[in-house]
Amino acid sequence: MKVVVKLSGSLFGPELEGLDPFFELFSSLHEKGVKLAIVTGGGEVARRYIGFARRHGCDESSLDEIGIAVSRLNARLFASGLGDLAYPRIPTSLEEVGEAFGSGRIVVLGGYHPGFSTNAVAALTAERVRADLLVNATDVEGIYDSDPRVFKDAKLLKRVKVAELTAMLQSKGYGAGEYELMDLVALKVIQRSKIRTRVVLCEPEAIRRAIEGEEVGTEIVP
Ligand code: UTP
Repeated sequence: MKVVVKLSGSLFGPELEGLDPFFELFSSLHEKGVKLAIVTGGGEVARRYIGFARRHGCDESSLDEIGIAVSRLNARLFASGLGDLAYPRIPTSLEEVGEAFGSGRIVVLGGYHPGFSTNAVAALTAERVRADLLVNATDVEGIYDSDPRVFKDAKLLKRVKVAELTAMLQSKGYGAGEYELMDLVALKVIQRSKIRTRVVLCEPEAIRRAIEGEEVGTEIVP
């Protein structure tokens, strides 16, 4: 089984101890023969750095590049925790990812290119390696009918169609560091290649359950 997992940038800092259980999860999955690519988000550090540079007049694509650099640093850190199980380089393009994935080691990567988020990176990677499953592990339990951080009665959706999600996201911001849970590029890729996708809480148990085929979080239906 081939799986791409996007890890929320919120895992990276300020404390890093929360990462340890993820190394155990991924090494046990690797041992069972699951082929993995892991995409790390930029998180708080990326947002703070982007905010700082924006206040100083930096253009949007350069801000994106700051975010990409941070996500790659997080990837490097995560790969170090996996030791020899991880592919020794952090791929920076789809071409490199294809090559790295063929090595049989766990591939860890951050961003690719300005204009989208690491969610799109994860979807494009899943498309390239013909993944059986894309797991988007985020800081909420799945996709809600309204923002759960604002509305107490927000309802977790078990299943949502790409078209519905696209409509929900149309009105959102697309500045550097401001991409939503799923960005439009990610949704397009999921749709065109019919990639099985699940959005779950970023914790080892939820990711494991998603990979084992359980109905955890929200399924995105192409
Ligand atoms: P993320 O995609 O991690 O954004 O990359 P995020 O919204 O902070 O994600 P999480 O929820 O913490 O995981 C940080 C920023 O880096 C740029 C974007 O500006 C993004 O908001 N980026 C990232 C790109 O421009 N291209 C990429 O391929 C990846």
